[in-house]
Amino acid sequence: MLYLTKRITVCIAAISFILAGCNDDDPVSPPPEEDVSFSEHVLPIFQEHGCTGCHGGTLQENDLRVDSVDELLEGGVSGPAIEPGNADGSLLIQQMSPDPPLGNRMPLGMSPVPEEQQNTIRTWINEGAKDN
Ligand code: HEC
Repeated sequence: MLYLTKRITVCIAAISFILAGCNDDDPVSPPPEEDVSFSEHVLPIFQEHGCTGCHGGTLQENDLRVDSVDELLEGGVSGPAIEPGNADGSLLIQQMSPDPPLGNRMPLGMSPVPEEQQNTIRTWINEGAKDN
């Protein structure tokens, strides 16, 4: 009986230890106040979805490059691709929607950019489209 009580005590101690561990701040989530970075967060989305393949160093469809902030501000044949502080008014965001203002939804001929990634780009534009 004494042996069993000891076992139970050890178990309770172990559970309390685990529960205490759960209260720690999760070190994996980035701090919410952190700015979205063009080079670390936005450009990799363009690369993953082929945007830089058609709007980069090799090809510049509609005269647009998306691989630098300066190029996005300059835009293509239809004018600036982004308007800092106004994501929903930016052509770049509008062209990724199901009903784009010009021609085809981007990325042309490929699956749409998931909403979560579009929101990362939106946040970056709304934070002022910094070259960070
Ligand atoms: C396979 C090639 C291809 C890919 C990939 C592609 N585009 Fe395009 N993009 C085009 C073409 C061609 C046009 C001209 C309009 C049309 O044909 O719909 C265009 C036009 C645009 C325009 C309008 C530019 C202007 O000034 O008229 C924007 C903004 C744009 N693309 C953004 C993107 C983004 C963002 C991605 C990635 C999510 C992307 N594109 C991926 C080929 C591509």
